[in-house]
Amino acid sequence: RLLVIDFGSQVTQLIARRLRELNVYCEIHPFNKVDDAFLAAFQPKAVIFSGGPASVYTTGAPMPPKGVFDLGVPILGICYGQQVMMHCLGGHVEGGHGTAEFGRAFVTPTPDKLPLLDGWFAAGDEQVWMSHGDHVSKIAPGFQVYGTSPNAPFAITADPARHFYAVQFHPEVHHTPKGAKLYENFVRLAGFTGDWTMGAYREEAIAKIRAQVGSEKVVCGLSGGVDSSVAAVLIHEAIGDQLTCVFVDHGLLRLGEAEQVVSMFRDTYNIPLIHADESALFLGALEGVSDPEVKRKTIGRLFIQVFEKHAKSIGGAKFLAQGTLYPDVIESVSFSGGPSVTIKSHHNVGGLPEKMGMKLVEPLRELFKDEVRALGRELGLPASFIGRHPFPGPGLAIRCPGEITTEKLDILRRADAVYIDQIRKHGLYDEIWQAFAAILPMKTVGVMGDGRTYDYALALRAVTSVDGMTADYYPFTHGFLGETATRIINEVKGVNRVFYDCTSKPPGTIELE
Ligand code: XMP
Repeated sequence: RLLVIDFGSQVTQLIARRLRELNVYCEIHPFNKVDDAFLAAFQPKAVIFSGGPASVYTTGAPMPPKGVFDLGVPILGICYGQQVMMHCLGGHVEGGHGTAEFGRAFVTPTPDKLPLLDGWFAAGDEQVWMSHGDHVSKIAPGFQVYGTSPNAPFAITADPARHFYAVQFHPEVHHTPKGAKLYENFVRLAGFTGDWTMGAYREEAIAKIRAQVGSEKVVCGLSGGVDSSVAAVLIHEAIGDQLTCVFVDHGLLRLGEAEQVVSMFRDTYNIPLIHADESALFLGALEGVSDPEVKRKTIGRLFIQVFEKHAKSIGGAKFLAQGTLYPDVIESVSFSGGPSVTIKSHHNVGGLPEKMGMKLVEPLRELFKDEVRALGRELGLPASFIGRHPFPGPGLAIRCPGEITTEKLDILRRADAVYIDQIRKHGLYDEIWQAFAAILPMKTVGVMGDGRTYDYALALRAVTSVDGMTADYYPFTHGFLGETATRIINEVKGVNRVFYDCTSKPPGTIELE
């Protein structure tokens, strides 16, 4: 396996991403957790130093353990990683003086050939992405220059005999188009065969869970979403019935969703499951509430309360399992308040482990979303389930602006089901990041048959997005929209008007509240 030592770059996790695309298993560890004992235990086959915001010549600058250079394994230093390598091995690094470079730059090769650069420079200079204030002013003994840019005379340096490579730019970002090739060359030089698969990950993860948990009990909060489901199935495979899942049903789920979750986990996977049907509690507390923030806070507070109650009913669980993903783990290392890795919990049970005195089991911590989906497929979860659109923790509450009533929720559920059915029938589901119906807090007049109607209006929403942070509305054809509006009004009693939301994010958000 490969070790990435993190010096705090904003893009460190992209290094892991590039390596996994090459079927190479790696782990990222912050520099302050990596000492010689760690290296001896980890036994990396190659090491990458990430970039970072510090300057090597300031006191207390983050450093790798000295022993890393004596391991006899290939090392690749990136940006700050290059500078720290030069600094440790006898070179020199300087700050500023007009040589900072941010953004696109072009690297020109020197006449010497370097296997790390196979596939580079075939058509002249290569575009790279730079982001540095300091620069190497003298390379360390044994190193040679293989590429220069206008502001980085040592853009690519290497000591090929020791397999030490150091570049000033960031090969992991898309703005360095040949960056993936550079990583491919590096792992080939390090002797990786690219045989890491999700199957291997599954075995490793199972062994780790067993080692962590021993014979203790684990409780897992199940939302019905992909992440917590994959985590639960994986943990169950590792420790069997030491795991109990708690599925808090807040009464704000989609049509048939609670039944699906319960039947999948109980019947298909035989996982002990507490189905906490607390809809009366949640809907009671939400009665008369129309402020979006009050709704969210009410749901969040009750969720924690209810989850805690049911988790306690299992008796003596020492571990809480969560489907935390890699992007949820903030890897940037803080230099001002002392180096630490902070975890941002996206899950509704955030804060609970400390409160309940539980330890966390997070078997997906090293994976990206698409890798979790791959692991889910590996575990045999149905494809239709794995490809589902994201669904927010507060559920239909934030798709029902204004006051929530059971009548409105019922209309919304049925309309949403027709809308999604339409999208699937037209083969559009996988092109869309998220699609849903929302019920608007108003009634409008219509005419059906020979009679007057006075019913609810619906908004349909569909967006494309990469990460949910920004989004475009989906450009359905007028034919599709007309057909869908007709179907909803014909099939769902209580709706007589349908709007399509053409707002992107920003300025809108994906959900209505
Ligand atoms: P917005 O509406 O903020 O949504 O543009 C961005 C993405 O996040 C989802 N979302 C949530 N997910 N708990 C969640 O687990 C929440 O409270 C929550 N609010 C929004 C939303 O569905 C979209 O995918």
